[in-house]
Amino acid sequence: MCGIFAVSGDSSKAGSSVLKGLKKLEYRGYDSWGVCVREQESGTIFIEKEVGKISTVKRDFPAGREAIGHSRWATHGGVTRTNAHPHKVGRVTLVHNGIFENYLDEKKKLSAYAFASETDTEVIAALIDSFLAQDIEPLQALQRAACCIKGRFAILVMIEGREGIFAARRGSPLIIGRGATQTFIASDVPAFLEQTNVVNYLDDDEMVHVVGNKAHFFHLETGTPIEKRNISVPWKVEDAEKGDWPHFMIKEIFDQKKTIQKAIDHEDRKLQQAAKLLENSNGAYFVACGTAHKVAMAAEYFFADIVGRKINVVPASEMPSFERFVNPKTVIIAVSQSGETADVLEILERGKKKGAKILALTNVVSSSMARLADVHLPINAGPEKAVASTKAATAQMALLFLLAYTEIGQANVGRQILRSTASSINDMLNPRYENYIRSVAERISQQPNLFIIGRKSLYPMALESAIKIQEVSYINAQGFAAGELKHGPIALIEKNTPCLVLGDDPETLSNAIELKSRGASLIGVSPTRHDVFQEWLRVPDCNGAQAIASIIPVQILAYHLALLRGLDPDMPRNLAKSVTVK
Ligand code: G6P
Repeated sequence: MCGIFAVSGDSSKAGSSVLKGLKKLEYRGYDSWGVCVREQESGTIFIEKEVGKISTVKRDFPAGREAIGHSRWATHGGVTRTNAHPHKVGRVTLVHNGIFENYLDEKKKLSAYAFASETDTEVIAALIDSFLAQDIEPLQALQRAACCIKGRFAILVMIEGREGIFAARRGSPLIIGRGATQTFIASDVPAFLEQTNVVNYLDDDEMVHVVGNKAHFFHLETGTPIEKRNISVPWKVEDAEKGDWPHFMIKEIFDQKKTIQKAIDHEDRKLQQAAKLLENSNGAYFVACGTAHKVAMAAEYFFADIVGRKINVVPASEMPSFERFVNPKTVIIAVSQSGETADVLEILERGKKKGAKILALTNVVSSSMARLADVHLPINAGPEKAVASTKAATAQMALLFLLAYTEIGQANVGRQILRSTASSINDMLNPRYENYIRSVAERISQQPNLFIIGRKSLYPMALESAIKIQEVSYINAQGFAAGELKHGPIALIEKNTPCLVLGDDPETLSNAIELKSRGASLIGVSPTRHDVFQEWLRVPDCNGAQAIASIIPVQILAYHLALLRGLDPDMPRNLAKSVTVK
């Protein structure tokens, strides 16, 4: 949700470097973009901003060694050039990722300023400028402004007449990249991974002043200096690039040849710690959003089947209704690709205050959730950049399946099942398989509706299938519990309505027959072919881990539906990869 990026150091091409880095963060938001350069000779602040995607933009910028930039996913104010970042107010130029909840109250107090945009961000710039106008030093001005802000923010600030770039965070991610001749500040590592994999993590309520290639860190509340450790991120440049693939989505789908295996090559010690946390708890909640929530629903079945334990699953945005049941014996299990989703983070922060234990499964190891957790299990899927989550979801499911087996003291059995699942998926994912799925997509790509049914852990996968198809193809796809069909949804079936049937157990097949007798054309996703299916997407038999394999052909189907409908699957309308606002 908005990518922000700054470059400072030796090169006078900081503007172009920011543009290049922002393109790598575009998955975080692609409504509009903007770059600001401090011109080398004059020190003048140069700003360029535009509506539209940044990926195709080519620009020359004035020479300058310091630049900041932003790729926007609009929250406050429509998608217009005026609302695009950076915002310049007085001496302050600023980009922001987050939500300034009380900005209207603060805006009223800043009556001396004429605001150009409808954004909360411009108010932060004005706040800082108002403190500078009182001869307050920049770092203190940032501190004072932070005191006025309720909500989450990561900001990058340039001040006319003051050297360097200032940055601060509370609740939204900021990572400092330490290159040989340049220092970078970004919402995520891929922005600067080509230059360096050595980073400092900025924590909540910390700020940094980067001058040239040096970074000075401070507490945001007290202003006291802090030392930061240099950490090497284990990602390679090619992990964060498309390479020869036409889109990140299909690359990441095919990455699943390896990622399921990587998810279970997990430190046993960590898994044992996580299992212990659950064992010692009285009441556990999975809390997640979007695809991660469907993963958690599948894990609810894994834990019921394997451990004989019921774990509650609640979408993070609905959890406030149940928070009064959270106490020091509760474990909250956060499942999240980014580890930054605001709705989940809030529940964790409040749960922690009540003494609950936090177990977090995230892909981004440096994420806020990972840092907040009592036990963090990384899913090791490598950078996931397509908005539609694919490899992160299957890696999360594999790890949760393994955790369930670890809890009953049979991690080896779990590993064995998952190893064989990973190897079958490796065989399944080949160009012939993709081509066949494309041919199915060709047949149904112009249909307005598509329904998906599944039972047990394939029920959440029916819901997840619907999300995948909705987000990238905009077809009205809906998932149902197979047994619920006849309680309403079957009224939607007309002649030739395409329906995906996940699984081939006798009850699901009987529901499939009910669909067919109302005219539906059935696409089976199962280990065995059945006469009732008009088309059949074969998946391996995975011995309890069926959900992991069954979602993959649907991911491929969704991808090709998007292409056949002339859409960009990597950048679906209105969506963002990482939703850091409520
Ligand atoms: C957004 C993304 C989804 C994702 C959800 C949760 O809505 O578009 O793909 O599943 O956020 O994100 P998380 O990073 O917490 O898994």
